[in-house]
Amino acid sequence: MSIRLRLAVVFAIASAIVYGLGSWLFVSELASSQQGTIDSQLAAQLAKAGHYLPRPGSAAPTTGGAPVPGEYVVQLIDPGGRVRGGSADAGAAPLLSPSELRQARLGRVLRTSSVEGERERLLAAPLKNHPGWVAVADVSLEALDSTLSHVIRELLIAGGVLVVGAGVGAYGLARAALSPVERMRREVAGLSERDAATGVRVPHTRDEIAALATTMNLLLSRLQGALARQRALVADASHELRTPFAVLRGELELAGRPGRSRDELAAAVVRAGEEAARLTRLTDQLLFLARSDEDRVPARLERADIGQLLARCVDHAATRARAAGLGCQVDAPPGLAARVDPDRVGEAVDNLVDNALRFAPSGTSITISARAVGQDLTVEVSDSGPGFPEQFLPHAFERFARPDSSRARRDGGAGLGLAIVSAIAHAHGGRAEARNRPGGGALVALVLPGAVDRSPSGHTGTATCATTSRSRAEER
Ligand SMILES: Nc1ncnc2c1ncn2[C@@H]1O[C@H](COP(=O)(O)OP(=O)(O)OP(=O)(O)O)[C@@H](O)[C@H]1O
Ligand SMILES: [Mg+2]
Repeated sequence: MSIRLRLAVVFAIASAIVYGLGSWLFVSELASSQQGTIDSQLAAQLAKAGHYLPRPGSAAPTTGGAPVPGEYVVQLIDPGGRVRGGSADAGAAPLLSPSELRQARLGRVLRTSSVEGERERLLAAPLKNHPGWVAVADVSLEALDSTLSHVIRELLIAGGVLVVGAGVGAYGLARAALSPVERMRREVAGLSERDAATGVRVPHTRDEIAALATTMNLLLSRLQGALARQRALVADASHELRTPFAVLRGELELAGRPGRSRDELAAAVVRAGEEAARLTRLTDQLLFLARSDEDRVPARLERADIGQLLARCVDHAATRARAAGLGCQVDAPPGLAARVDPDRVGEAVDNLVDNALRFAPSGTSITISARAVGQDLTVEVSDSGPGFPEQFLPHAFERFARPDSSRARRDGGAGLGLAIVSAIAHAHGGRAEARNRPGGGALVALVLPGAVDRSPSGHTGTATCATTSRSRAEER
C-alpha cells in the first residue's frame, strides 16, 4: 500500500474515531439534559396534582382520550388502588403496577418503560396531606426520542461526509507533499554512474525534502569521488605493474635467444629476480592498502619499548646506510614505552627510513626520534636531503602520489610508502604528517594519541638501547 493511501486511511480512521467520540458525547449530553428537564416537569406536575382530587362525595374518576405526545398525564390513586382523579386523559387503570404502588406509598418511584415500542417516563410519590394516596405523573418520550434519532441521523450523515473528506484531503496532501520525493526517485533512477555527480534538483522549499535532496547529492558526490579514486587507483596500479612485467618479459625473451653466454643468462636471471621482487612488493603494498580500506588492518597493541623498536629499524637500514655513506641514529628518551603494534610501527618507520636513504646526501645523518607529548607518542624520521617539493606536501600521503621529479627516477618506488605509513597511523587511531625542516630536509611524523604507557614495568633496559643504537649508527 502506498504511503499516500496509508496516510489517507489512517487519517480517515482517526477522524472517524474522534468524530464518533465527539458525537457520542454530544448525543448523551443532549439526552441527559432533556431527560433532566422532563424529570423536573414531572415533579412540577406532581406538585400540582392536588388540583385533581375528587370533590368530597364523588367517587367517579376523571376520564378522557389518549394523551397528546408531550402532554403530561396525571393520576391520583387512593389507598384502595383505584384511580380517583387526574388529567383529562389519565384513564381509569392505574399507571403503576401493584408493587410499584406499594413502593410509591413509601417514597418516590421514577422509571422509564417501553409500551408498544414507545418509551415513557413516570414519576410517582405519596400525595401530600393524604396518607395512602399516590400521585403519578407520566409523559411519553416519543418527542425526545424522535429528536434524538433525528440528531443522530444528521450526525451520521455529516460524519460520513467528514471522514470521506478527511481521507480524500489527506490523500491529496500526502500526494502533494511526496511529489518531490517521487520526482527525486525518477531523477536518481535516470542517473548513470558517470553523471551521478550532477545529483538531483534541490527544491527551494528549505524543508525536509530539500534537506533530503541535499544529503542525497552529498552522498552521490562522495560515491562519485570514491569511484573516481578507485578508477584512478586501478589505472595507477596497472601502470605501475606494467613496467616490471615488461622488463621481466624483456629479460626472459633475451635469455631465451640462442647463443647467450652463461654469464649473460645469469645476469638476466638476476634482473628478472629483481623485477619479480619489485612486483611482489608492489602487490603486497596494494593488498595492505586494500585491507586498510576495509578496516582489516587491525593494530595488535602491546607494550613496546620504543627505543628498542627504533633500534631494530636502524639495523634493517644499516647495510644500505653504510653503502650510501649515511649515519642513522635513534633519539628516544630512555624508558619510553608505548602500547602500539610493534610490527606495523616498525614497518612504517622502515618505509620512512627507506625514503630518507634515497634522498639524504652522503655524509649526512638520518634521525629517528621519539617523544611523549602528554599521553601521545610522536615518532619522527628526518633527513638533511632536499625535502618535499612544497606543492607536493598536501598530496604526500595519497596513493601513487609522487612529485614529477620522482616519477622520472629509476630508483623511485610506486608512491605507496607514505600511504601505507598513513594507514598504519590510522589503524592506531592516529595520523601521519609530512613537512620540511626549517634548516632543510624532510620530516615525517607519526602521531599516535594515547599510546604512551607510563606503567612502572616500562623502565627496564631501555636507556642502554637508545644509546646503543645511536652509537651503533654513528659508528657506521
Ligand atoms: N625524505 C624525503 N625527502 C624528499 N622527498 C621525499 C621523501 N620521502 C618521500 N618523498 C617524496 O614523496 C614521494 C612519495 O613517497 P612514497 O614513500 O609514498 O613513495 P615512493 O618512495 O616513491 O615509493 P614506495 O615507497 O612505494 O616504494 C616520493 O616519491 C618522493 O618524491
Ligand atoms: Mg617510499
